[in-house]
Amino acid sequence: MRIQTDFLVLGSGIAGLTFAIKAARAHTNRKILVLTKTVEGESNTRYAQGGVAAVWDHEKDTFGKHVDDTLDAGDGLCRRDIVEIVVQEGPERVQELIDWGARFDKEKDSGNYDLAREGGHSEHRILHYKDLTGWEMQRALLEEAKRYPNIEVLEHYFALDLITQHHLGHMVIRVTPGIECYGCYALNKQNGEIDTLLSRVTVVCTGGTGQVYKSTTNPVIATGDGIAMTYRAKGRVENMEFVQFHPTSLYNPAGENPSFLVSEAVRGFGGILKTAEGEEFMHLYDERLSLAPRDIVARAIDSEMKKRGTDCMYLDCRHLNKDAFTAHFPTIYEKCLGLGIDPMKTMIPVVPACHYMCGGIQVDEFGRSSIRRLYAAGECSSTGLHGANRLASNSLLEAMVFAHRIFLDTLDKVGQWSFQENVPDWSAEGTTEPKEMVLITQSIKELKEIMSYYVGIVRSNVRLKRALDRLYLLYQETEELYKTTTISPQLMELRNLITIAYLITRSATHRRESRGLHYTTDYSGKLPFIEFSVL
Ligand code: FAD
Ligand code: SIN
Repeated sequence: MRIQTDFLVLGSGIAGLTFAIKAARAHTNRKILVLTKTVEGESNTRYAQGGVAAVWDHEKDTFGKHVDDTLDAGDGLCRRDIVEIVVQEGPERVQELIDWGARFDKEKDSGNYDLAREGGHSEHRILHYKDLTGWEMQRALLEEAKRYPNIEVLEHYFALDLITQHHLGHMVIRVTPGIECYGCYALNKQNGEIDTLLSRVTVVCTGGTGQVYKSTTNPVIATGDGIAMTYRAKGRVENMEFVQFHPTSLYNPAGENPSFLVSEAVRGFGGILKTAEGEEFMHLYDERLSLAPRDIVARAIDSEMKKRGTDCMYLDCRHLNKDAFTAHFPTIYEKCLGLGIDPMKTMIPVVPACHYMCGGIQVDEFGRSSIRRLYAAGECSSTGLHGANRLASNSLLEAMVFAHRIFLDTLDKVGQWSFQENVPDWSAEGTTEPKEMVLITQSIKELKEIMSYYVGIVRSNVRLKRALDRLYLLYQETEELYKTTTISPQLMELRNLITIAYLITRSATHRRESRGLHYTTDYSGKLPFIEFSVL
């Protein structure tokens, strides 16, 4: 099937839906098609717990403080102009979401928003809805999107590849000037057909990459598809070595995919990191103790676990008020109880897990990628906001700010860009149904092992080299399979994950220093010059 749409949005998380709603309101006669690879409500957005950071209490907080906290966490690699844009425009975007029906908790007495605090923040500035902020934001966005008849959400549609001049038979390499995007090929998972989707504007909002590691807080959809597609289309990708590990996922000896998150807001609420013996250890690493930025806390936990040979460390909440705790963190409380842990009586076992990709598709201040007519927003993009380490609760904010800026940039342009009719349909010639799915599932397992053991929180040249060698073998085997096998979501996810693993490892190899989330035992210091790693 061939479908034409004015705006093609890949992903139905906060970035995709925010953009779709804005485009639909402004262009009532234009069509906005949103693809989502499972159901519309499944995304990283849905699982966000802590909340969204925004300067709200102007008596205590200032834009300057939020900017400084973001720059400090980013360890010298943030783009200051972008940080200022996001911090200053953020509250307007949050207000818009409130106007669309999103609820955030308020203080009982004053009726003001109940602002929480998380690691690296010098003030209370996190708006939240209990510990289900992402669920609430996604709910409000989906409800608002349904009010516009020109938005169509196609569920179980898997975007496979971006369409460029390459598909018209032209040679396209990484330095080809004027590469353009004409839409994408997508697998309709319900009938197995591959459709050609032609668009005037394409916006990639496909979210994170957490599934490249064995242990991650990201749901199974987070396989980095948009970043991998853009890289295959010869678009620029940057800062992929900066993988954020959340210090406190719930340790579950039975293993769980995804790992359950114990929000940083629990530490903001007074939870304290301790050893199994009940001793504090964060003073050995940072004066901000349990509320130091994530890279520092995750490395501290990792280091203590290695030193002690234990599988986890602990978060002590026993001294906190039960009523207040259960009101703010009902989901975390229930989850712990389900595993036989009563947080009011027992310390919560925690362990770091892969959580967030700070790098991604390189974009400018209007979300424009290096490919014309192709934009990116949300976790798949690299705007320069996060630098070498994202400040907690800045990502929902960034997604909304950039969705808005893409909307502004495309307002007039959409009418100037026409459909490229000469695009051929997808050819499946020479491929057959896979005989053994185990080839794919086992490769995914291998990939996760490689990344977890060799490209984790602490890296070294030897480990990175070993990872690259192993990844190359997996890449060769998978490309062979790709050439001869009918397309399936599993095969495409494996391909995409291998690309993501390669991009992370390659960027990590290039960075000959320890900065932010990239920590290597071979280079303990920082280089005097600061640069993005662009691939
Ligand atoms: P997502 O919300 O992940 O949406 C991606 C969409 O793309 C999905 O709809 C998916 O189906 C679709 N998609 C992907 N690939 C394809 C494909 N090939 N074809 C079609 N569709 C595709 N951030 C904060 O700021 N505050 C928090 O408190 C917070 N807590 C978090 C807690 C958890 C457990 C996790 C995992 C993350 C948290 N984050 C938090 C990070 C934040 O939630 C994400 O960065 C953000 O929601 C990403 O939004 P997004 O729109 O970019 O992508
Ligand atoms: C959390 O609630 O700890 C997650 C916040 C974030 O990832 O920004």
